[in-house]
Amino acid sequence: MRTDTGHVFKLEDYRPSDYLILQTSLVFRLSPEATRVIATLTIERREGVAASAPLVLDGDGLTLLGIAIDGRDLQPQDYAATPDELAVLKPPAASRFELVLETEIAPARNEALMGLYRSSNVYCTQCEAEGFRRITYFLDRPDILSIYTVRIEAPHNEAPLLLSNGNPVDSGALADGWHYAVWHDPFPKPSYLFALVAGALGKVADSFTTLSGRTVELGIYVEPGKERLAGYAMDALKRSMKWDEEAFGREYDLDVFNIVAVSDFNMGAMENKGLNIFNDKYVLADEETATDADFANIEAIIAHEYFHNWTGNRITCRDWFQLCLKEGLTVYRDHEFSADQRSRAVKRIAEVRTLRAHQFPEDQGPLAHPVRPRRYREINNFYTATVYEKGSEVVRMIRTILGAEAFRAGMDLYFERHDGEAATIEDFLKVFEDASGRDLSQFALWYHQAGTPNLTVSSSHNARAKEFTLEIEQSVPPTPSESRKRLMHIPLGFGLVGAGGKPVSYDDVEGATVDNGVIHIRKRRHVVRFTGVAERPAVSLNRGFSAPVTLSVEQKTDDQFFLAGHDSDSFSRWQAFNTLLTDALIAAFRQVLGGKPPAFAQRLTELAGRIAADETLEPAYRALALSLPGEADIARDIGKGIDPDAILAAREALALAIARANRENFTGLYERLADKGPFSPDAASAGRRALRNILLDYLALLPEGAALAATHFRSASNMTDRAAALTVLAHRHAGSAEAQQALADFEAKYRNDALVMDKWFQIQAGVPGSKTVETVRALTGHPAFSMANPNRVRSLIGTFSSANQTGFHRADGEGYRFFAETVLEVEKRNPQVAARLATALRSWRSLEPGRQAKAREALLAIAAAQNLSADLRDIVERTLA
Ligand code: BES
Ligand code: ZN
Repeated sequence: MRTDTGHVFKLEDYRPSDYLILQTSLVFRLSPEATRVIATLTIERREGVAASAPLVLDGDGLTLLGIAIDGRDLQPQDYAATPDELAVLKPPAASRFELVLETEIAPARNEALMGLYRSSNVYCTQCEAEGFRRITYFLDRPDILSIYTVRIEAPHNEAPLLLSNGNPVDSGALADGWHYAVWHDPFPKPSYLFALVAGALGKVADSFTTLSGRTVELGIYVEPGKERLAGYAMDALKRSMKWDEEAFGREYDLDVFNIVAVSDFNMGAMENKGLNIFNDKYVLADEETATDADFANIEAIIAHEYFHNWTGNRITCRDWFQLCLKEGLTVYRDHEFSADQRSRAVKRIAEVRTLRAHQFPEDQGPLAHPVRPRRYREINNFYTATVYEKGSEVVRMIRTILGAEAFRAGMDLYFERHDGEAATIEDFLKVFEDASGRDLSQFALWYHQAGTPNLTVSSSHNARAKEFTLEIEQSVPPTPSESRKRLMHIPLGFGLVGAGGKPVSYDDVEGATVDNGVIHIRKRRHVVRFTGVAERPAVSLNRGFSAPVTLSVEQKTDDQFFLAGHDSDSFSRWQAFNTLLTDALIAAFRQVLGGKPPAFAQRLTELAGRIAADETLEPAYRALALSLPGEADIARDIGKGIDPDAILAAREALALAIARANRENFTGLYERLADKGPFSPDAASAGRRALRNILLDYLALLPEGAALAATHFRSASNMTDRAAALTVLAHRHAGSAEAQQALADFEAKYRNDALVMDKWFQIQAGVPGSKTVETVRALTGHPAFSMANPNRVRSLIGTFSSANQTGFHRADGEGYRFFAETVLEVEKRNPQVAARLATALRSWRSLEPGRQAKAREALLAIAAAQNLSADLRDIVERTLA
C-alpha cells in the first residue's frame, strides 16, 4: 500500500508521456498467494523525444521477477526497480521495442480491493483510478491507450470461468487440470479499464440486437444459485442499450457484454470495457430481499456503467483532473434514462434532494473543490458529489442554454470528433460552442470555480404602470484557496403565475436576456422589468431546478402557499411546499432552544393533508412532498451553531402535528393503498408503496402507532414494506416490545443473507438518540458483520456517522471517539473506504461550540496515527485546515 508522499498533482503540470504503449499482451497464471503476471508491451518513443530519455513505469507494491527488451534480459545496471517504480535507464535506440516484464502478486492478501483481489474465492480486478499498477509496471495514466490481449490460466475446478475485456478468441485445456482462455479487445483503452474475472459463477444469458442489426451476447454472472436474482438487472441492461440508441444514437460495439457481481467492492460498479464489475448489491434483487429503492438503484447503475461505453471508454479522459468529463456526463445520461423510464417529475425532485444532501455540504465546507479540480494529493478522494452530481447539473445547464436540438448536435460532434481519444473539458465545451455558435466562456466557470452560487431575489409590482420587476443579485461565497470569485452565467428558470396557476403573459422584458422561460444571469445585479403585467403575479423561481444554486427570496407566505398548491412546474410546486416546511422547522428549532414547545400553523398541516389526498398528483410525488426535510437538511439551512437534539425535537413536533391534524384522512388513504395484486417493481407500484409507507410513518406517531407498524411489518409481502415498518418501529418506537420483536424476527429470517442483513445494520445504526453508539459498537461483533467488507462497513458505520445526527453527534463526543477508532481500524485494510467514511466529519465547524471541540479532537486523533495512508491523511488534513 502506498503511504503518503505528500506530493500534490497539479493540472498545469500535465505533459504527454515520452513513450506510448501501443499493444499490451498479458498472461496471468492465477494462484491466490502467488499469481504470475507476464506483460509484453509494445512501446514506442514519441516523436521528438531523445533516445536517451528513460522509460519510467508506475508500480504499487510490486515485485519484479524478470525484465527483457526485444528478447534479451536486462542487466542490473540497465534498470532500477522499486515496488513503486520501474525505470529502464537506457532504452533501445530504435523508436519501437518490446518490453517483457514478469511480476508476482498475492490476490488473496489484497484487502484494499484495488488491483487483482479475491472476493468469495472469485478472482476479480478494480483498476480505476490507479489499481493497474498493483498488477504490473505500466504507464498507468488515462492518456495511454493500448490494445489488449489477455491470456488467463487457472485450475479448471477452481475457476471454470475465465473472463477479460473484449471478445473471446481462444480457450482450451492445459496439463494438470489447468485450462486457459484468451480475450482480445480491439478498442484501444487506458489501463484503468482493464478487467479480469476468474472463478465459479452462475450465468444468466440473453442477447440484444443493435439498431444496425448486430447481435450482442449478454451475460450476467453471479454467485451460483443466485441466477434468478439477476433478472431485473438483465432487463435494465437491455432497456439501457435501447435507450442509448434512441436518445444519443450510440450503439454497442463488441460481440459480448458481460457483467459480474462480486460481494467485496469498494464502489457501486465499474465500467471496464465489455466486462463491467458490480457490487452485488446493485445486481441482485427480488421482491423478498430488495426494496423499491434498490430496484431503482440497480436500473440506474446498470445504465450508468453501460453508458460509459461511449462517455468514458470510447472517449476517455486525458488525465484525472478531467474526471467529470466522463462521470458528470454519464450521471447526466443515467438521470435522463431513469426520468424516461419512470416519472420525470419525481426523478428530478429525488436528484435535487440528493444534490442538496451530498454536494451542497461538500461545496460549503472544507472539502470544496471545482467540478474540474486543479490539484489533488489522492485521486481516489475526488470521486465526489461535486464531480458527479454537480458535474451532471453542469451538463444539464448546457442543454438548458442551448436547447435540445443544439445540445444533441453538440453531443454528436463530440462523439465524431473525439472517438478513440483522451479528451478534456475544453474539448467538451468546444463542441457545444461549435455546434451552436454560442460563447460558453463565462459558463465554463461552472467547471473551474468551487462554491454554490447564491441568488438574492426581490420583486415588486407597479399596478399603474403594469410593470413587474425582479431584482436579482448573484454572489459566490469564498471556498478554501479561492477567496475571490468571478461572476457566473446562471440560467434561471422562472414563471409568472396568476390566478388558478395560469401563466401570466407580458409584453416585453428588459434588464436580462430572457428566452424559453429562462433568465440568463450574467452580471452581479440584474433589474428585470416585465411590462404589460396588470395583476401582481406570484413568481416561481429556478423552475425544474435549472441551476444548482441557493435562493434567498423575499416572498409573501401567501404566495408560497399559492405556489405549493398551483405551480404548474411540478418541481417548483414541490419546492414551494418544502420551503414552507423548512421555514416552519427552523422557527420550531428556535422555539425548542428557547424552551417552548413549537406550534405549527394549521394552514401548513392542512395543506399536507390536501396534498396527500390529491388524486391528480402521482402517489410517488405525494410521498416526496410529505417526507419532511431531514435533520441534516434543516441543519444546513440553519447554518451555524447546530444542536442536533433540538433539530430532532423540532422535526418530531411537526411530524406529530401533521399526523394529528390528518388522522382520519391518512388512515383512510393508508387502507385504500394496501397492495392487492402480485408484486411489480415498476415506478407506479413503487409510488403507491412509498405513499402508504410515509403515511405509516405519520400514523405510527399516534396512540396505537406501534401496534399498527407491527401489523404492517408482519403482513408485509415485500422488502419495501417490511423494511419501512421495521424502520418506523426501530426509529419511532425504539426499545418497545414491538421493535425488539421485529428486529429479532428479521434477523432470524435473514441471518444468512448478507445484503439483507445490511438493511438490519442500517436501520439500527440510524436509531436517533444517545444510546445508538453503544448498539453500533456491539453490532461490530455480530457474526454477520465484517470490517473487511465495504458494504457491511458502510451499512453500520457509514449510516451511523453520516445519517444519524443525534446518535453520532452525541453531546459528550462518544460518537466521534468510536468513529475515529473505527476509521483507523478500517484503514489498516482499506484506505479508500476509510477515507470516504472520514468525510462524515466535514461539517464539524457548523456544530455548536461543545460538539465542535470534541469533533476536532477526533479528527486530531486520526491525524496523529502512525503511517497514515495518503487517502486518509488527505481527507483529515483538508478537513482540519
Ligand atoms: N467509474 C466509476 C467507478 C469508480 C469510482 C471506480 C471510483 C474507482 C474509483 C463508476 O462508473 C461509477 O461512477 N460508479 C458509481 C455509481 C454511479 C451510478 C454513479 C459508484 O460506484 O458509486
Ligand atoms: Zn461512472
